[in-house]
Amino acid sequence: MEEKIVSILEKYNQTHLLNYINLLTQEEVEKLKQQILRIDFEELQTLYENTKKKPKIEENKIEHINYTNKEKLSSKEKQELEDIGKTVIKNEHYAVITLAGGQGTRLGHSGPKGTFLLNTKNGPKYIFEIFIDGFKKAKNEYNIEVPWYIMTSKENHKETVEFFENNNYFGYNKNKIKFFMQNELPLLDINGKVILNKEKQIKEAANGNGGIYESFAKSGLLEEVNKKQIEWLFVNNIDNIISNFIDPLLLGLTIKEKQKIGAKSVAKTNPKEKVGVFCKINEKPKIIEYIDLAEELAEKVDENGELLYGEVNIGAYLFNISVLKDLAKIKLPYHAAFKKSAYLKENGEYIEPESPNVYKFESFIFDAFTRYNAISILRVKREEEFAPVKNKEGADSPETAVKLYNAKV
Ligand code: UTP
Repeated sequence: MEEKIVSILEKYNQTHLLNYINLLTQEEVEKLKQQILRIDFEELQTLYENTKKKPKIEENKIEHINYTNKEKLSSKEKQELEDIGKTVIKNEHYAVITLAGGQGTRLGHSGPKGTFLLNTKNGPKYIFEIFIDGFKKAKNEYNIEVPWYIMTSKENHKETVEFFENNNYFGYNKNKIKFFMQNELPLLDINGKVILNKEKQIKEAANGNGGIYESFAKSGLLEEVNKKQIEWLFVNNIDNIISNFIDPLLLGLTIKEKQKIGAKSVAKTNPKEKVGVFCKINEKPKIIEYIDLAEELAEKVDENGELLYGEVNIGAYLFNISVLKDLAKIKLPYHAAFKKSAYLKENGEYIEPESPNVYKFESFIFDAFTRYNAISILRVKREEEFAPVKNKEGADSPETAVKLYNAKV
């Protein structure tokens, strides 16, 4: 290895990589060198050091956040808001971005989550196909083809694009569907060392759905959207198979409230439900995870007996394009999760660990909300808009999601 590479490895405590050289072909060594030069080891080192620090106890002022309950709107109010939203959609100022860069480890499906096949009452349908059905429905209703941008990761990009090609974009206009890839970060073992994958390269993984802001801009799509005069972008998760992603109501509400970000919520079923909820922290909108919400707050109710911290985040957000422009260059905090990951040993053995062995660093899309003073929140009915496919079985599984889907379509 050249001195330059060795000095990087020495500086950042990664010289164990030199022990693998004998296992690698010349071509693999070249690729590894390029990877070493590309990786930001300085940032990685900081991320690793942060895993050992106790989380800072900050003086946070937690308050509940205001929301609009769709159920409680009069038909006149609903009509007024929907009319505002429909004008935006009909004038082609609206697009959808779906986050599909995740690994879907809990589901245990080997391909991208969108390629998972579900047995619905309308026959077998892939998750991506179910989304296309939504776009086709909107085409019938508004007589326009809403553009769809899909965020992939290095791991699943090729397979995702090929899947659409092989299925002829399920009959939707292929020019309206674009893919963009999010960034990756290396995984680090308990000692802060990078690990190697089967291909004998440093193992990296998608850097969380917060990667959207940077990668949407970097891909050139933000510029394209800007040129097309698209003003509003709805962002959802690939795993919600009843996402109502072309909804004039949320648009109308956000525009009427003069906000730049909108989001949908569903009511928390009970104070102990393990979900993130919307709140205000130090006067700014935020999603607080259940672990961080004190029991007494989780149980607090308002004068109508509704949970004060009861607006569950379902990963359904609306952004004005100005927000995506603002956030293209910011750095969101990374959260470390300790996960299982297979790796190559120095003797060439490939190990599938039984328990977690690496830190994975992810940023979250909603961590950007605290940069804004307020967002519009629309509470919708869970059974109408939220059927996630997360786990192989039990809660939030294909079985529970399909049940909800069948009841809706
Ligand atoms: P989840 O947090 O549920 O992760 O993602 P996941 O990867 O789908 O599933 P597990 O945790 O490995 O089982 C919520 C949404 O964010 C996307 C996912 O594709 C999903 O739509 N996501 C997640 C990304 O686009 N990139 C990421 O790096 C992580």
